[in-house]
Amino acid sequence: MMFETLKYEIKDGIAYITVNRPKALNAISTAVLKDLKAAFDMVKDDDQVRVVILTGEGKAFVAGADIAQMSALTGVEGHDMIKYGADVMNYIESIDKPVIAAVNGFALGGGCELAMACDFRIASEKAQFGQPEVNLGIIPGFGGTQRLPRLVGQGMGKYLIMTGEYIKADEALRLGLVEKVVSPEELIPTCEKLAKTIMSKAPIAISTAKRVINKGLMLDVPAGVALESEAFTVPFCSEDRIEGMKAFLEKREAQFKNR
Ligand code: CAA
Repeated sequence: MMFETLKYEIKDGIAYITVNRPKALNAISTAVLKDLKAAFDMVKDDDQVRVVILTGEGKAFVAGADIAQMSALTGVEGHDMIKYGADVMNYIESIDKPVIAAVNGFALGGGCELAMACDFRIASEKAQFGQPEVNLGIIPGFGGTQRLPRLVGQGMGKYLIMTGEYIKADEALRLGLVEKVVSPEELIPTCEKLAKTIMSKAPIAISTAKRVINKGLMLDVPAGVALESEAFTVPFCSEDRIEGMKAFLEKREAQFKNR
């Protein structure tokens, strides 16, 4: 399938999704949101795809929601656009396959929010992060007020959202907003190495872990642990669990079958 604003390729179990509007620093227009939704629909339905690497073409990851498009919207239209965008971010987060954001450059506003809807953020040394919405007279609208404080803590989340300050990749690493910082050349290879490590594990265990972690973060600890206890039976009743434990006892590599 061809997309207007994205590149979509599959290789060796990895879907590479690249936001492709480099002239506008990959700003998220309604067309980008529609394409992202359709691309993640494909990821969801395609058994060949085990992990997603999401990145941006050119010097930016994504420099935010499309300000030119937003500037022309009425209040009602603005509400509808933001609600749709927030739904798309929630949808990306809910996909039962790991999604790695390969943050190659600016991840600002909706771009930082898109990265935060992914499971992991691997950043190039050139990446910069920020929620500059207050400079435009608005607040983050693709989940930033919720996901940023959960990742970096309440005080730093408020600091970044209320100052609009940009931070470099090493500071983002120190804050826990990204998991790794590497040189630009190493960005995609590092993400591929992470993808391959995850792909070597039992897929049912990976998808169950993702679901329980995401849902559990919205619950108190006893409720989250109850969810974990229930979810534990899903991989425990799989063929891959039998194979994984047998392989350990036989001192060999497990051959998982996603069953
Ligand atoms: N929307 C629309 N167009 C954008 C854009 C955006 N978010 N960010 C950059 N562009 C466009 C610029 O207008 C420019 O277009 P022209 O060549 O037609 O003039 C082109 O991309 C290149 O950008 P710059 O010339 O500005 O590049 P730079 O290297 O000088 O600066 C930058 C880079 C600091 C990232 C700067 O582009 C910038 O500040 N961008 C806006 C960042 C921002 O405020 N993002 C938040 C958006 S609001 C939001 O995201 C709400 C939400 O929560 C959903």
